[in-house]
Amino acid sequence: MTSSPNSVLTHGVASDLSVLAFDAYGTLLDVYSVAQAADRAFPGRGEQVARVWRDKQVDYSRLRALGGPDRYVSFWQITQDALTAVDRLLQLQMTVAQREALLAAYAELKAYPEVVDVLGRLRETGRPVCVLSNGNPEMLSQALQAAGLQGVFDAVLSVEPLRTFKVHPDTYGLVMKRFGVPAQQVCLVSSNAWDVCGARWAGLQAYWVNRQQAPMEVLGVEPSAQGKTLADLVTWLEGGHGD
Ligand code: LAC
Repeated sequence: MTSSPNSVLTHGVASDLSVLAFDAYGTLLDVYSVAQAADRAFPGRGEQVARVWRDKQVDYSRLRALGGPDRYVSFWQITQDALTAVDRLLQLQMTVAQREALLAAYAELKAYPEVVDVLGRLRETGRPVCVLSNGNPEMLSQALQAAGLQGVFDAVLSVEPLRTFKVHPDTYGLVMKRFGVPAQQVCLVSSNAWDVCGARWAGLQAYWVNRQQAPMEVLGVEPSAQGKTLADLVTWLEGGHGD
């Protein structure tokens, strides 16, 4: 156990892990990087647009998951619908050209600065690394290619075949099924605290990339460990405290 502020081990044992599964949006890819494009279209409001867009996107994924498989639409469709909601809510009166520019920016989000280096180091350890994302395969493929992350992962797993979204427990099961390992040998790596909770509920270990240094959600579970960036994950995996 460690008391380091950057990597708090609460329930997990890194040496037991066989597979690392990375969330994509918000963890590898900076969903708030669209704020720059949004600011060009709506000066002074870029950060607000990016934040509400992300909130609506996650909200709609949960509502459609609750509605059942008949209510499923792709995460890219949800991303477009969420942008329409932003337009209405913030009364932006977005033109077609502005909307296309924002969607183009979202299709090719920037990776966080440490991502390429960290994934390269993790690959050297020989432990399989995959993506587990709400994103549909086409969306993921374009985004990972644009971010220079194509070919880095042993598998890119989309929830789409299940016609639901995280935090449905079956979505986390995709990793165990693909790699033939028990849940406790898989670690989901996510910057989304709710995703960490979903993975823990499904029996996985979960590393919280707590980029905002936010307090943990109150849902009765804790991350296996946490850090500020993916670089802290490497330290944890190596048995250190990630300070
Ligand atoms: C994902 C979203 C939820 O990549 O961040 O699954």
